[in-house]
Amino acid sequence: MTTVRSAWQGAGRRIHMQEVGPRDGLQMEAAFVPTADKIALVNQLSAAGLDKIEVSAFVSPAAVPALRDAEVVLREIERHPGIVYAALVPNVRGAERAIESKVDELNLVMSASETHNLANLRMTRAQSFRALAEVVALGRSAGVAVNVSLSCVFGCPMEGEVALDEVFDLVERFDQLGAHGLTLCDTTGMAHPAQVARVVAIARLRWPRQIFTLHFHNTRGMGLANVLAAIDAGADRFDASIGGLGGCPYAPGATGNVCTEEIVHALQCMDFHVAVDLARVMHAAARLPALIGHEVPSQLLKAGPRLQLHPPPADFAAVRERALARA
Ligand code: COA
Ligand code: ZN
Repeated sequence: MTTVRSAWQGAGRRIHMQEVGPRDGLQMEAAFVPTADKIALVNQLSAAGLDKIEVSAFVSPAAVPALRDAEVVLREIERHPGIVYAALVPNVRGAERAIESKVDELNLVMSASETHNLANLRMTRAQSFRALAEVVALGRSAGVAVNVSLSCVFGCPMEGEVALDEVFDLVERFDQLGAHGLTLCDTTGMAHPAQVARVVAIARLRWPRQIFTLHFHNTRGMGLANVLAAIDAGADRFDASIGGLGGCPYAPGATGNVCTEEIVHALQCMDFHVAVDLARVMHAAARLPALIGHEVPSQLLKAGPRLQLHPPPADFAAVRERALARA
């Protein structure tokens, strides 16, 4: 038999899945999810084998009240060896709190768009960069890994296209500062596969030793297509959110992250090596509506995995008999 090979076949290639639901997802929720439920959710995600979990954010409790319990959550979760427990930090104050709470990785955030940065972080990009440079130095001296997430890399809802030169200028400057990883975020789901393929290919060519993560939102239904385009261009790390939770309070119309269980399911179907227990993720996702008080976007949760079989209709035996009698 002829063997047919194509870029669509994973052939066992390792893809790392990083969960951001407890932070990117829960920060948007109107209802406060009780601390014990957050801890249980992170523990379920750890048991499912996600490579990294963004557990919470050490931001101003007035700005994001949903995550005001970051310290307790970090203290009480069960930590599994090999899983990186990260937290978002916007400034030195946040970094100090996160280091005190023994996070494995600080996730710093600023926007590639001037307008979005001002709206979200109340600083110009130049001010943010100076502030984050201090945080990178603090993380490095404390021996804690630092990842930098750049928002709006693929477009800004208020400015439109964001110049790639400006994005790559920030990548270069954080690379020079010694960031351990860089996340290219499509904060409001503006990316499309052709753009993603180009950005990932250039980034990998210019910074071959840097660890890049891609962070997509499914706002316009292009999430999975963007993941596949990024993989085809050489990316192997993705942020995703259980149930497809997520958004950004300062990004009009933003909806959820790509959904962890949908991406894991698709990539496992395609024979990529994704070391995540899909059944456990789905079990945890199924409990979300009760926690947040509304449905989640996950289609996989509604339909089940592709080979989850359903019984034929009740009159199937009679239908078959009639059909066979006509044969
Ligand atoms: N942790 C706890 N409190 C913090 C803090 C942190 N990391 N950073 C600032 N604060 C507190 C300050 O102590 C101050 O409190 P006070 O009013 O009781 O004195 C208040 O927040 C304002 O501080 P200021 O330094 O003036 O910052 P700001 O008002 O310009 O806010 C941010 C800047 C970025 C700290 C704040 O807007 C924030 O945390 N935003 C969250 C953004 C976010 O998470 N977006 C979603 C992710 S994309
Ligand atoms: Zn996001």
